[in-house]
Amino acid sequence: MTTNTTVLEASDVTMRFGGLTAVRSVDLTVNSGEIVGLIGPNGAGKTTFFNCLTGLYVPTEGKVSYKGTVLPPKPHLVTSAGIARTFQNIRLFANMTVLENVLVGRHTRTKEGLWSALLRGPGFKKAEATSNEKAMELLEFIGLAHKADHLARNLPYGEQRKLEIARALASEPGLLLLDEPTAGMNPQETRATEELVFAIRDKGIAILVIEHDMRFIFNLCDRVAVLVQGEKLVEGTSEVVQADERVVAAYLGTPFEGAPGDEEVAEVEAAEAASATTSKEAPSTNTRTEDGQ
Ligand SMILES: Nc1ncnc2c1ncn2[C@@H]1O[C@H](COP(=O)(O)OP(=O)(O)OP(=O)(O)O)[C@@H](O)[C@H]1O
Ligand SMILES: [Mg+2]
Repeated sequence: MTTNTTVLEASDVTMRFGGLTAVRSVDLTVNSGEIVGLIGPNGAGKTTFFNCLTGLYVPTEGKVSYKGTVLPPKPHLVTSAGIARTFQNIRLFANMTVLENVLVGRHTRTKEGLWSALLRGPGFKKAEATSNEKAMELLEFIGLAHKADHLARNLPYGEQRKLEIARALASEPGLLLLDEPTAGMNPQETRATEELVFAIRDKGIAILVIEHDMRFIFNLCDRVAVLVQGEKLVEGTSEVVQADERVVAAYLGTPFEGAPGDEEVAEVEAAEAASATTSKEAPSTNTRTEDGQ
């Protein structure tokens, strides 16, 4: 599709909070046209890493570049450079309308200054009309145009997540960071979000997405990086990451080697084999390790 230019390059990013190292020497790149996933157990440092990328935190060590330029650790400068994000805990202006929330997201891209706005001169009116038009286009794209004048707080949860994405897109980013975009969504909403992320990528916006929903991640991502206790454990295609025993172990929280569970496994296998020879019915196996998210 496009040539592979590096959009985001984080090198050796470390974030310490007092004695706690939440992110340790993490390198990550996102190239144009890519959807990259960032996964890891709760508390692994995923959101902290996002905060380091977007200037919310000043990393203790390391460097973050966007399209070859080192980013200043100030959120508004990062946004105007071209990185937009959504938050794990939705941050909308609850008492503003859907349209107004998107307009707020656009303000980094409007040149009209404070005086122009206060005096409501012709320049401002023209800019306002253009902004409204662009915001409505975005709401159309995201599927919320029919609710443009609803208050954000009256939207169902899934639509609030969508609105956050629309607001992020309003700053016309080259890279979009999504922190758990499907949290709290039902399966249909999650599927729709998957399509939406593909559609955003097709607009030429690179994406880095944090999610706990593995099916969502593995369907969507060209590449997946796994953070465990602040460190990047594995990075690769969905196939490579899914097949990596260390990733499974990190999620299940059980060691793979040393195998105190070996005897148990052998017992279950023996029981399965026995019941398979005595009965045609599916044996009821011990699946207690299979229900982890
Ligand atoms: N501002 C902070 N001050 C101190 N410790 C923090 C701060 N922010 C995060 N941490 C700690 O850093 C670690 C990583 O947290 P983080 O929120 O980045 O994890 P996460 O991978 O996003 O987890 P989750 O999947 O639950 O969202 C945790 O131990 C957390 O308590
Ligand atoms: Mg998080």
